[in-house]
Amino acid sequence: MALAVDRHLAILAGISLSFVAVKALKRFIKKRQNNAPLSPGPVSLPLLGSVLSIDAYEPWLTYTEWGAAYGDLLFVRSLDEEMVVVNSQHIAEALLDKRSRIYSDRPYLATLVPYGLSINFSFIAYGDEWRLCRRLFHQTFRPESAAKFRPMQIKRAREIIVNLVDDPENYYNHFATFSLSVVMSAVYDYDISARDDPMVQTVIKALVPGLTLITPERALLLKTFPFLLKVPDWCWGSSIKRSARGSTERINQMADMPFRYVQQHMADGSLLARSSMVAENLRRMERQDEAFKPVFENGLKKAATTAIIASYETVTVGGSFMGLE
Ligand SMILES: *[C@@H]1O[C@H](CO)[C@@H](O)[C@H](O)[C@H]1NC(C)=O
Repeated sequence: MALAVDRHLAILAGISLSFVAVKALKRFIKKRQNNAPLSPGPVSLPLLGSVLSIDAYEPWLTYTEWGAAYGDLLFVRSLDEEMVVVNSQHIAEALLDKRSRIYSDRPYLATLVPYGLSINFSFIAYGDEWRLCRRLFHQTFRPESAAKFRPMQIKRAREIIVNLVDDPENYYNHFATFSLSVVMSAVYDYDISARDDPMVQTVIKALVPGLTLITPERALLLKTFPFLLKVPDWCWGSSIKRSARGSTERINQMADMPFRYVQQHMADGSLLARSSMVAENLRRMERQDEAFKPVFENGLKKAATTAIIASYETVTVGGSFMGLE
């Protein structure tokens, strides 16, 4: 695997070596004090850990290989991230399902908040906010609700065939339109137009570059040098800050545009007869404590946007490999 580290990052990474080395040493000392043995795992290089040995596109192949050598529960360090790889369904169920109260969490990614991606609630740490988002999400997307979406899916399936025949060049947009239309209608009661819909364009603009920006190298850099987000625009090294700001703007637009659409339609009464995840919950919010309203609204916006992200990624992952950045 080749790590595509650009020149700025390489220089900054050089400066960061000493910081990380000090950290690694502290960690080592702490571990000795805890005396808790780690599971076996591959030998790790200083600073890099095992990042160079992990297949970046199909990491599970590497983990399976290591599983044969080190067992079903193995310890890996990748850059400064410490990971435990679970290679058996039995252990996964015992830890992640039966003891989910202890093990339900997400790793901290220093790029998440600066790049606006904390809107994706499946990235956020286990806690009250996560539970609220998860509950709102589940109300709309539980398995029993699937049948409700079928008429819309059939209608859109016909449309995508016509679009593919008419305009095969733009197949990427047609797939994005298809995968988003069902969820957009359930979440916002928004009817995507068959071609060039402005909301679909906002989603593509926000998500196609989004995931390629939050690389592990960048996360490590921001974790080590948080001041990189504060350097003035004219200063050397401000490219990370500027790309983070651009990403946050695009992602906020993707989250706000359809949300405002629902609020406006509710205000002028045109959505009264129809329902959607956002409209129903905004109505429910009316009856809540003033103090809880902003928390609830924020959770609702995250749950709604995460549904959009999920539907988009399920069908259209790979956009960044198709020259769309
Ligand atoms: C959202 O979070 C999930 C789970 O952590 C991840 O697989 C997905 O790629 C994320 N998508 C975006 C756009 O952040």
